[in-house]
Amino acid sequence: FLRMSELSLTNKVVLIREDLNVPIKEGKVASDARLQASLPTIKMALEKGAAVIVCSHLGRPTEGSSEAIYSLAPVADYLSDKLSAPVTLNNDYLAQGVAIKAGEVVLLENVRFNEGEKKNNAALAQKYADLCDVFVMDAFGTAHRAQASTEGVTQAMHQAGKTACAGPLLAAELDALSLALETPAQPMLAIVGGSKVSTKLEVLHSLAELCSQIIVGGGIANTFLAAQGHSVGASLYEADLVDTAREIMGKTEILLPEYVVVANKNDIDFADFTGSLQKAVATIKSVDNIGDNDMILDIAPDSAIKLAAAITNAKTILWNGPVGVFEVDAFGQGTQIVAEAVKNSQGFSIAGGGDTLAAIDKYQVADGVSYMSTGGGAFLEFVEGKVLPAVAALQINE
Ligand code: 3PG
Repeated sequence: FLRMSELSLTNKVVLIREDLNVPIKEGKVASDARLQASLPTIKMALEKGAAVIVCSHLGRPTEGSSEAIYSLAPVADYLSDKLSAPVTLNNDYLAQGVAIKAGEVVLLENVRFNEGEKKNNAALAQKYADLCDVFVMDAFGTAHRAQASTEGVTQAMHQAGKTACAGPLLAAELDALSLALETPAQPMLAIVGGSKVSTKLEVLHSLAELCSQIIVGGGIANTFLAAQGHSVGASLYEADLVDTAREIMGKTEILLPEYVVVANKNDIDFADFTGSLQKAVATIKSVDNIGDNDMILDIAPDSAIKLAAAITNAKTILWNGPVGVFEVDAFGQGTQIVAEAVKNSQGFSIAGGGDTLAAIDKYQVADGVSYMSTGGGAFLEFVEGKVLPAVAALQINE
């Protein structure tokens, strides 16, 4: 596909689709990894002499609404600060268009406020295309969604004979992930955490083909422990996926902890899960000895150290999902040990997903991770070998 870096953009109006979908707490950006990753693209377009319109979704608002909690206003403030130029938030662009000059940056209000965005409505996509001379798809994190501001606008640009290209972030993500996954140095090991096997099922199947070992953590590990015949007490697990877990265990070696950290379910308030865990007692137990009221919430340090040895031996490491409730320190040691092992490993390491990047940030191991992807769902779909529709649309006019 065509890359923005190859184009001359002097006095062109450029519409850049970024993934600026970041957590917002009390009106402020709570984690800025995705925003930081988008800055070089915006700066490059400005340096090339363009007038820059940026667009993104934020969260999952009801279409046609404009709820303040889903406004990109905090992101506009963040970008203004980092770009040392005012970034104006525009919420009238569908009706009025955007008046902009070279060197200026305008951020469009949340595209998911617009009717038809998620359904990839062609008329809406056309309106986005009408705003610009060049469309830049840079939102790797949203490339698995065929929506009006991703796939639809790309098609509309092609139809109008205008340029649609890949931004540097999208190109870098695709280059790094393809290189690492096409011929991964062996042995390859994956760390897959998170709460549910169901959301990671396809990726586990794909990774079982690629990897000689997979470390599972979080609720996913509980389903595998149950598949091994262990009682998991009150832990989160998916009974209907125990057979699937066995099938995956038949394809590759699944590394499971021998000891885990549990809390008593009666000490947990599920309406305030992490808040109540701050006060809960953390107890180390063997996986052979989990009581009916025990909830497994982390891998115990000794077991995590054993798993870390496997991480150290791997030549390629893919990490998606924390192995415990790392937001609460008493249940974060497993994730910390895993994070430090990834950092200290000599292998090529790739990490993706919002929680994983938050854990990398918390344990300050970013400098030891070879590649951090801004994608969550998109990262998983890429690993699964799926075609990302917004990328496929860019390739059509090659
Ligand atoms: C993500 O956070 O994975 C992307 O921004 C996509 O968001 P979505 O799952 O709401 O489409």
